[in-house]
Amino acid sequence: MTTMESLIGLVNKIQRACTVLGDHGGGDSSFASLWEALPTVAVVGGQSSGKSSVLESIVGRDFLPRGSGIVTRRPLVLQLHKTEDGAQEYAEFLHLPKRRFSDFALVRKEIQDETDRVTGKTKMISPVPIHLSIYSPNVVNLTLIDLPGLTKIAVEGQPDSVVKDIEDMVRTYVEKPNCIILAISPANQDIATSDAIKLAREVDPNGDRTFGVLTKLDLMDKGTNALDVLEGRSYRLQQPWVGIVNRSQQDINRSVDMMAARHKEREYFATSPDYSHLASRMGSEYLAKLLSKHLESVIRARIPSIISLINKNIDELEAEMDRLGRPIGVDAGAQLYTILELCRAFDKIFKEHLD
Ligand code: GDP
Ligand code: NA
Ligand code: MG
Repeated sequence: MTTMESLIGLVNKIQRACTVLGDHGGGDSSFASLWEALPTVAVVGGQSSGKSSVLESIVGRDFLPRGSGIVTRRPLVLQLHKTEDGAQEYAEFLHLPKRRFSDFALVRKEIQDETDRVTGKTKMISPVPIHLSIYSPNVVNLTLIDLPGLTKIAVEGQPDSVVKDIEDMVRTYVEKPNCIILAISPANQDIATSDAIKLAREVDPNGDRTFGVLTKLDLMDKGTNALDVLEGRSYRLQQPWVGIVNRSQQDINRSVDMMAARHKEREYFATSPDYSHLASRMGSEYLAKLLSKHLESVIRARIPSIISLINKNIDELEAEMDRLGRPIGVDAGAQLYTILELCRAFDKIFKEHLD
């Protein structure tokens, strides 16, 4: 593993440990500022724009609930941890710490069940996140957050306030300066009407931390193409736009697997008369690499401020541990200890890296 890979992995672990303590940025404890300093990626877009499909492509696994209407009703904080080549792939939920899932169909079912546990079998939404970690040799170290889709109208069984509730929920994530926005827009709709771009423009007007993702290129009307968007003429961002071809509903019904889908996507770009000149910068694999690289550069730029926060936290953690008295049997104590250890490891790697 490179130093940067292990640093991103450590950032992941610190975020996870902070989460166990019930602190993901909202609280006023000493870890709130640490969590705030660490970057995350939020997936934002209108309903059915392809958010879940993009996430699954990045992971290379089928594991998200899907269907028509409002499927994602709670934020899903998805932490990807890269493991050694050949290692067994598995998933773990924060609310079920003792259980390892190697069957990803069961992961999907548990996301559904855990959503229902909080919202009931209704169409209601809840801001309480579900935390899922995936350990795999085939992922890049990343924290991604899947959010409910933005809508313009409430559906049967939902109060009218749901439209604003979803937008407010999404906004609490994307307005944080450490949040990288993965703004998903479908190519078969006018980009000027994209919910994702509308919100991204509001919270990140210079487009410094927004990645524009254009899905459903294969569904555009014949004779039209998305070059104006993909080449940055329709809406300019600091980062390049990435075009994607996910599995269609028919592919999903026919159980086309992720590897076959990736292959199909690569072939689509390589052979497309419109996009072949962009082929090396298109597709979900490229997007995952681009995001990971960006995350690296963000962390690199923040090294000094993260180090000072970590040192402050080490001091505060030690004071807290003394107050609680060691050894500590309770969960919170164990998590505090974990964070302390992780912060030390982080500090050490940074210092070695800088020398
Ligand atoms: P979400 O609601 O934003 O999470 O959207 P989903 O990822 O669930 O996708 C909604 C529907 O659009 C599903 O039936 C997908 O199969 C389909 N879909 C998503 N992306 C593409 C794409 O690039 N091409 C095609 N043909 N269908 C897509
Ligand atoms: Na959209
Ligand atoms: Mg979805």
